[in-house]
Amino acid sequence: MERRTFLRLSAGAMTLAAARFLRAQETSGPRTLRQAAAPRNLLVGTAVGRGALGDPDMARLIGEQFNIVVSENDMKWAATQPEQGRYDFSHADQLVAFAESHDQRVRGHNLCWHADNPKWLEAALTPQNAATILEDHVRTVAGHYAERIHSWDVVNEAVNPDDGREDGLRKSIWLQMLGPDYLELAFRTAAEADPKARLTYNDYGLELDNSGDDRRRKALLKLLHRFRKKNIPLHAIGIQSHLSGSLVPPTWKGLNHFLNQVHDLGLEAYVTEMDVNDLELPADIPTRDRMIGNLYRSYLEDVLKHPAVKAVLTWGFTDRFSWLNGLQRQRPDHLPKRPLPFDADLHPKPAFDAMVEALTKG
Ligand code: G3I
Repeated sequence: MERRTFLRLSAGAMTLAAARFLRAQETSGPRTLRQAAAPRNLLVGTAVGRGALGDPDMARLIGEQFNIVVSENDMKWAATQPEQGRYDFSHADQLVAFAESHDQRVRGHNLCWHADNPKWLEAALTPQNAATILEDHVRTVAGHYAERIHSWDVVNEAVNPDDGREDGLRKSIWLQMLGPDYLELAFRTAAEADPKARLTYNDYGLELDNSGDDRRRKALLKLLHRFRKKNIPLHAIGIQSHLSGSLVPPTWKGLNHFLNQVHDLGLEAYVTEMDVNDLELPADIPTRDRMIGNLYRSYLEDVLKHPAVKAVLTWGFTDRFSWLNGLQRQRPDHLPKRPLPFDADLHPKPAFDAMVEALTKG
């Protein structure tokens, strides 16, 4: 690493240490996210990857900071039904048990998706057997956790106007096999298997003021109205909130309008997978963390104005483990991304402060 970068980074590290020391001295308000969320009865949480609970420091932080958790991967089809008819709840059960012993709620993610499905499923599915296979999976998985789950992402990412359909639906394997009714089948089966869970439709690309997200919001609203018309059980929308840091702060007009319409449909809304991809942000860590913090603040202060928004979850909590650092597109300077509220050493960042402020702001 050339000398100038080293000096810049060590200066950065010293400022960071100083900032942490001052933070510890002056913090009089809520010291944890769940304390910050309590007065407004909000849920604040994180995705938990396999193995995180095995690390005592991470397990302690998860228990202290959050009042809701979601498994990053262990409730997905690949983990819960790795072979046709063989169900495996061993990993997900650990998280649910941990949550229940830490007075936390649990989100289930997800019962029906076009991606990351086990190889046997794509090979076995036919138009004749798809309804039975889907129904059996939803009934078995949602049934296994019945009355222990706050909300299930019953269907994930089924809208994709770029596929060119009039109804805006994604041409997924489920649509190919069963047509649009697969959504109704999944939600009605989940409602029977766990009448207590808030049934949620979860998706990405709903946040920004651009033509792509606008089309996605419109297509999703069309789907929601169809659900209401057919009285298909649905209680909430999951807004994934995978944001990208940019030099120009984004605006949230389209999202505000969308959240008002979601509220008018009597639905709750959850921020389900928040993180900030800092691909385009400066290398300097204090600067980058401040800009990421500002984006967390701008976004959360805006969405938490909406009475429909009941929960905020980040997609992981420490920069030590983020899917964003596993992606092909890495930063041009090859520095690790810093998308989450705690750094790789589990120290709170400006994004953490922004979450505390937004959660406590009335
Ligand atoms: O479990 C297998 C393991 O047996 C195998 O050895 C290993 C190597 O191939 O793969 C492991 O599965 C990986 C799984 O994560 C568990 O680690 C999959 O390959 C990998 O694709 C999967 O990535 C997850 C991805 O969803 C696909 O399910 C990411 O961790 C997870 O962060 C990401 O999360 C998604 C949300 O579910 C939906 N919204 C977008 C979000 C980010 O893509």
